Amino acid sequence: MSDLLGRALAAAQAAGTYLMEGRPEHLEVEAKSTATDAVTEMDRGAEALLVEMLLDDGPADGVLGEEGGERPGTSGVRWILDPLDGTVNYLYRLPEWAVSVAAEVDGIVLAGVVHAPALGTTWWASRGEGSRRAGGSAAHPVPNAVGEVADLAGALVGTGFGYDAQVRRRQAGWLQALIGQVRDIRRPGAAAIDLCRVADASMDGYYEQGLHAWDHAAAGLIVTEAGGVVGGLFGGPAGPAMTIAANRALFGPLHDAVADAID
Ligand code: IPD
Repeated sequence: MSDLLGRALAAAQAAGTYLMEGRPEHLEVEAKSTATDAVTEMDRGAEALLVEMLLDDGPADGVLGEEGGERPGTSGVRWILDPLDGTVNYLYRLPEWAVSVAAEVDGIVLAGVVHAPALGTTWWASRGEGSRRAGGSAAHPVPNAVGEVADLAGALVGTGFGYDAQVRRRQAGWLQALIGQVRDIRRPGAAAIDLCRVADASMDGYYEQGLHAWDHAAAGLIVTEAGGVVGGLFGGPAGPAMTIAANRALFGPLHDAVADAID
């Protein structure tokens, strides 16, 4: 296992334990970008723990965190962190939330971990060394491999929505155009996990507008190392404008349907 992956796994597990065991009876919730975009003391505490552990081993590393923003470093390594992806699920005690940790070197993600302790599952990948998961129904780590569904009509597709009411209405309009073309739609509520579900074939595809690097950096590598494709519209990179993930055969049809829907 690479040093970066080992550090990412150790930090994600520590933050996961903090989030599982440290949750107070009454959780203070603050609004971020909109009234329903929540941040809690647990998001901030988990990010502080991740940063402390990662910078302890690499004091010159940089960090981009969902809660703390950009802290530049000088080593060439940048940690991209979502301390609690699926905050609303966490608030409602739904198990679909995760800690996401990616290690980027000179702009390329080399290692990624998505740790979902309430689901009992961790997905991880190292560039060029494959994608694995442990927990859930798998007692020992098993390789992730994207599914084989190639036609849109047979595909189970995940998506997500932004926190701004106007944006959500627009996204719902796109969904209306898409839902009749696919097998069905899922909206579990934590983008990093949704992407990992494409990697382990428990979903066939995923798309969402509005994702940030901390949502998809780790999970994106987990998908590509599992044989899938992650990208944006018309050959662009995954990012806020659009993130699409699927197996190689399905990516094109899903991309085209999403592009048509938002046109
Ligand atoms: C959110 C979740 C959600 C997605 C939103 C994200 P957060 O992240 O991943 O599934 O639809 O776009 O912002 O706010 O829970 O870290």
